[in-house]
Amino acid sequence: MIIAPSVLNANFLNLEADIKAAEKGGADWIHLDIMDGNFVPNISFGPGIAQQIRKCTKLPLDCHLMIERPELHIAAFAKAGVEYITVHAEATKHLDRLLNQIKELGCKAGVAINPATSLDSITDILDLADMVLIMSVNPGFGGQSFIPYSLDKVKRLRAMKPDLQIEIDGGINLKTLPQARDAGVNIFVIGSAIFSAKNIEQETKNYRNIV
Ligand code: DX5
Ligand code: ZN
Repeated sequence: MIIAPSVLNANFLNLEADIKAAEKGGADWIHLDIMDGNFVPNISFGPGIAQQIRKCTKLPLDCHLMIERPELHIAAFAKAGVEYITVHAEATKHLDRLLNQIKELGCKAGVAINPATSLDSITDILDLADMVLIMSVNPGFGGQSFIPYSLDKVKRLRAMKPDLQIEIDGGINLKTLPQARDAGVNIFVIGSAIFSAKNIEQETKNYRNIV
């Protein structure tokens, strides 16, 4: 079971301290949400900040690209030193090629789907992906409510491939995490629930204790 706090809602004026607190609390990975204002309505940060984050933690960086034409940017994120690069199936025309290119850059390749996207869009490439990310909110913002039907998608995916790494992202809190875990998720992205807490280290521990 992997806990991947997302820094999207962290304090960017004090990012290093926030990341170290999550690390001390038992975070396994740090999740980086990259948004371009096109694929999603919001803009976050790019490879330059990812590179800075790389310098302040040894934890694997889990880079979630919510951008159009991700093929133009994967090399920059690989160079920044991230371990996982996850692209949205909806954002590229050539998903097979893109997953192979991510691996050629020396990274693990993940594929994400939005709540309204069917599992059918990724079933043929499951053996190519190191991880599948099921979005449990419409991507773009932290702090949204968990969409319950995503659990059914997780269950069907888990039945299809018992050894698959399945990540869930959006609206994960102390109530929804156990539901996602029981449906078959093994990687939990937790954004505002951890970084909006007064004590980030303690809150990370609370999640560590329930997975
Ligand atoms: C949403 C992002 C998430 C977000 C999660 O578009 O992909 O990673 O940071 O935040 P919470 O946990 O607050 O829903
Ligand atoms: Zn994310």
